[in-house]
Amino acid sequence: MDLTTEYLGLTLQSPLMPGASPLADSLDVARRLEDAGASAIVMRSLFEEQITRELMGTVDAVERHAEASAEAISYFPRAEEFSLGPDEYLDQLRCIRDSVSIPVIGSLNGVSAGGWLDYAKQIEQAGANAIELNVYYLATDPAEESAAVERRTVDIVRAVKRAVTIPVAVKLSPFFSALPHLARELEAAGADGLVLFNRFYQPDIDAERLEAEPTLRLSDPSELLLRLRWLAIVKPGVRIPLAVSGGVHGALDAVKAIMAGASAVQVVSALLKHGPEYLRILRAQMERWMEEHEYDSLGQMLANMSLARCPDPNAFSRANYMRILQSWRVGV
Ligand SMILES: Cc1cc2nc3c(=O)[nH]c(=O)nc-3n(C[C@H](O)[C@H](O)[C@H](O)COP(=O)(O)O)c2cc1C
Repeated sequence: MDLTTEYLGLTLQSPLMPGASPLADSLDVARRLEDAGASAIVMRSLFEEQITRELMGTVDAVERHAEASAEAISYFPRAEEFSLGPDEYLDQLRCIRDSVSIPVIGSLNGVSAGGWLDYAKQIEQAGANAIELNVYYLATDPAEESAAVERRTVDIVRAVKRAVTIPVAVKLSPFFSALPHLARELEAAGADGLVLFNRFYQPDIDAERLEAEPTLRLSDPSELLLRLRWLAIVKPGVRIPLAVSGGVHGALDAVKAIMAGASAVQVVSALLKHGPEYLRILRAQMERWMEEHEYDSLGQMLANMSLARCPDPNAFSRANYMRILQSWRVGV
């Protein structure tokens, strides 16, 4: 079965890869992922706050940088809480690069177009084949308009593209008011691919201790639906490839994401739950599904879909919302 796909200018032997996560913190796991058929490895993110702290040398730097109150600062992780410091990150990247023969994608996570982006160059020099830029930003300031949030995102991408020659993917959140337009702006700014989506980890409230409580729950397949919708809507408006991240747990999830427009399928929760070798099972099940449906390759599956004009982006929009609400009948 030919599962070859093009993503970020790289020819990959399959769309399946581990997404940004602690999976690549261990060389052994990175090798096991390659053995299990990963077509690339995305490393966990290096954070703007970590780099700024390193560059300026103090915690105050983070405080000034974030223009945050002392209370807000107390939520920032201390330097030792990050699994890999900036230098260790580059070392780990070099080690993975030397240990596997599949492409390695470094990840930067930040919200401003500042000096920290010099690390993009260092990630490139350490041997990364591409960079994934995660622009995880929560718009909490009532004085900030949405256009400013989008502008900054585009500026960050422009700055990274100026700094490196390797491809740059942008990992987005679903909370933009005009995502297809932003996708085009990012493409015009030089983005080589988009990853849909970032997953937000929502703190719960500890009602006894009257505190916000950080929670990390792994995803489940219901989260895929949001991705399928936006893949199908964004895809026709851009030429750059899209990757799905979020809610892929089974082979059929991967197939659906590809049908909706994904060239790459990133998996994290399922691999954290079942282990790196689960990737091999996903691939085998995907191949079986395609054989049963008489497809020889991803290319053939996609060609058939475009003949059938599927998926129709309109099926994911307002018309579908109205229809589905009307379909509910209250039982007596
Ligand atoms: C423990 C853990 C660590 C993660 N670390 C990062 C990270 O450093 N950078 C990033 O962009 N995403 C990170 N993610 C998010 C994943 O890359 C992915 O977008 C998310 O888990 C949704 O995919 P899934 O449903 O396959 O888990 C992390 C996820 C988990 C569970």
